[in-house]
Parts: sequence; structure tokens; C-alpha cells
Amino acid sequence: MLSVKSLNRGLSDPKLGVMNFLNEVVHRYPNAISFAPGRPLEKNFDVEKSFSYIKRYLDNANIESDSQQSYASLGQYGNTKGIIGDILSKLILNDEGIVADAASIVATVGCQEAMCLCLLALAANPGDVVLVEDPAYVGLVGAAKTFGIEVVGVPTNEDGIVVEQLNATVKKLKEANKTPRLLYVSPDFSNPTGFSSSLARRELLLDVTRELDLMVLEDHAYNYFYYDGAKTPCLKSLPGSEHVIYLGSFSKSIYPSVRIGYLVADQQVSLEDGEFCFLSDELSKVKSFLTVNSSAINQSIVAGLIVDQNYSLVDFTAKPRAELKLKRDIMISSLAKFFPKEEVWSREVDWNVPAGGFFITMKLPFHVSDDELFSCAEKYGVIWTPMSYFYVDEVLSTSVRLSFSYVSDAQIVDGIEKLACFVQEQCARLSNTGV
Ligand SMILES: Cc1ncc(COP(=O)(O)O)c(C=O)c1O
Repeated sequence: MLSVKSLNRGLSDPKLGVMNFLNEVVHRYPNAISFAPGRPLEKNFDVEKSFSYIKRYLDNANIESDSQQSYASLGQYGNTKGIIGDILSKLILNDEGIVADAASIVATVGCQEAMCLCLLALAANPGDVVLVEDPAYVGLVGAAKTFGIEVVGVPTNEDGIVVEQLNATVKKLKEANKTPRLLYVSPDFSNPTGFSSSLARRELLLDVTRELDLMVLEDHAYNYFYYDGAKTPCLKSLPGSEHVIYLGSFSKSIYPSVRIGYLVADQQVSLEDGEFCFLSDELSKVKSFLTVNSSAINQSIVAGLIVDQNYSLVDFTAKPRAELKLKRDIMISSLAKFFPKEEVWSREVDWNVPAGGFFITMKLPFHVSDDELFSCAEKYGVIWTPMSYFYVDEVLSTSVRLSFSYVSDAQIVDGIEKLACFVQEQCARLSNTGV
């Protein structure tokens, strides 16, 4: 029998098992209301229209779309960087104010592959370290650990990375002869916390990371899901962001199974022969050994839709954005209703009001982990995610991540009421046992 010890060491890291564990909880309690999955609602996926978007893409590219040959060309192996860089370049200019050469863009297999390419190309030498906001998206942390890359968390507050802590962490690593290479951040509507950084914090972060010689990976997977008026400009659109690699995804704005994301890596790389190339060219070399190229069929679905929408997805995402804003508001008003401040047991309960995204951080008056999760699912029929799952190292945390994206409005009210019963019971139990 194979021993897990003979496999990739990262696979024994308990953090890599947490998502399977969560799936197990969901399967064990199929009737529970789940505030765990960060999924978009299927009712907004217009999968049937995908074929017409392929035609739209071919027409736009002046390819004879009724010829069998042009459709067939989408079935062939393709360019590693993809075939839609020019379309993505116009999209991010319109929707994010990012000026990027089409050649600096790689169409990837979801944002997940974009993260993997950056980790493998930029942080895989001995002693290299990837810094991440802590807590962080498990997809990035899990990938780095699987690749054997050391990951170090940098504490965050509601405004994002704490810059003094970043300085201190880099200093400590350098003293230990390690090389911090990359910093992964999601300044807008972070998964898991729902926190966003102010403009001032973004500008400071750009200055400090430039001084520290760190490349920044900016994850903007929830960019179309902002609920409170004007968006704060993303890092990559700000002056002084030459060291930022921008990561995008169509999983939330179109549908996840299209598996198309992208990266913008417009940094210049000097080659041994004295020539220069874009960092995107080097990243695409890694891609050529990982997924060869992203499906041209799926790229053309995304690109046809973007062309159809006149190179902006702001209107296309207006309906799900309004629905999600309503869900956020229902969750916030339910929290206020069922966790009244005048009750002793709920006095210490607190939560943030995220300006966008799918997640809320809720602080409870006791530590939460697997036992509390099981007990709440079993007795009260509610599932959520302990925030401890998203920290790089093992920590005790009193916070939970509540996702409002994949539940009905009625389930939100019902689930929060049940969650309040669980918290009240837990507080009573702890005060009886004198803990
Ligand atoms: C912050 C963040 N980044 C990246 C991803 C992965 O996106 P994709 O489906 O494009 O791989 C997700 C998915 O939930 C996410 O929450």
C-alpha cells in the first residue's frame, strides 16, 4: 500500500484537507442551510447561449463562421498565451482602467492556473518565499504548499495588509537567508474576509512593496460584485504598479465551468542573449508544460460575450450584482435582528459589512473549529466555515466566514436565526462550565 509519506509532502498538510472536510460536512447534512460555498447561483448561467457567443467571436475576428473549417480551428491545439489577448486588453481598459498590451496577457484555465503559473515561475528557487495576506484564499496557499514553496502569512486588518507587519516579516526572512519574492493580496472584497483596502492603503502597499523588491499578485476575482457605489481603483490601474501582476476570472461573472481566467504580466524580462520579453512570455512557457493552452472553444465563448457586450461586463453583471447586494443586505439585517446588542450573550458578536464580494466575517465570543461546525450542522441545520481554515498556520480563531452567494433570501433569514440559537446555547454552556 502507498504511504502518504511517500507522496508530495504538501499533501500531508492538514490545511490541504479542509475543503474535503467541508464537503463531507455538507454531504452529511444535505438539508442544512449552508453559508459555506463561495459559488455563484446557477440561475444566472446562460450556458445555452454559449454557442451563439462562439459565432459572435468568429464573426468579430472576420473568420467565416459558417465554414466548417473555422469552427474546426477552435478544436485544434492553440497558442499558449491564448487567442483573446486583444479582447481582454480592451475589457480591462474599459472596466478597470488598466492599460495593458495584448501580448502581456495570458488566458488561463481559471484564475487558479494563473496563480499556479506565477508561483512556479517566480518563487520556485531554493529559499524563495511567498507572502500572503493572512487569512488568504485557500487556492493560492494550497497550490504553493503543493509545489513545496514556503508560504508565510502577513497579518491583515479591515483595511488589508498591515504594512508595518509586512516590513517586519520581510526583515526576519532576509535575516534567515530567505528570499521573499511575491506578495499575494486581494484588495477588493477578499475571500475569506470580505475586507477591502482603502485607496490610501493601496498606495502605501505599492510604495512599500516596490521598496522591498516584492512582486505583487493582485487577485481581482470578484471585481464586478461591488455594492456601494463607486469602486476603489484596483492596484494595477494605479501609478507605480509596474511590479503588480493582475489576476482575473470569469467564474463569477460568466460561469465557473467555462474555466477561463487571465493574468496581466507586462513586466520586462531581460534574457541571456540581451533581448527582452514580457514576463507573460515566460509564464506561458510554464503553461505549455501544465495545460498546453486554454480551450479555444471556451476562450471564444468568453470573448464572443465580451464583444457582444461592447467590451464591458458592467451591464451584463448588473442583475446578479443587484441580487447579491440584496442578499448581503438581508444577511446584515438578519444579523442585527437575531444578535441584538442588548442581550448579554450576543454583546461580543460582531461582523463587517463588505462593500462587495460573497463573504462576511463574523466574530463570535468563543473559539470555533470542526467540533462547533459539526454541532451547529447537526443540532441547528446550519453550516459555515471556521475562519481558522484560511490561515496559513494552525490558529485558534473566534471568527467564521459566512457566504451569502449560494442561498436563497429566505434561507438567509432562517439560517441566521438558527445560528443565533446555536451561539446562544454555546454561550450558556460555556458560562455554566465556567470556561
Ligand atoms: C479569491 C479567489 N481567487 C481565485 C478563485 C478561482 O477562480 P477560478 O474559478 O477562475 O479558478 C476564486 C474562486 O472562488 C477566489 O475566490
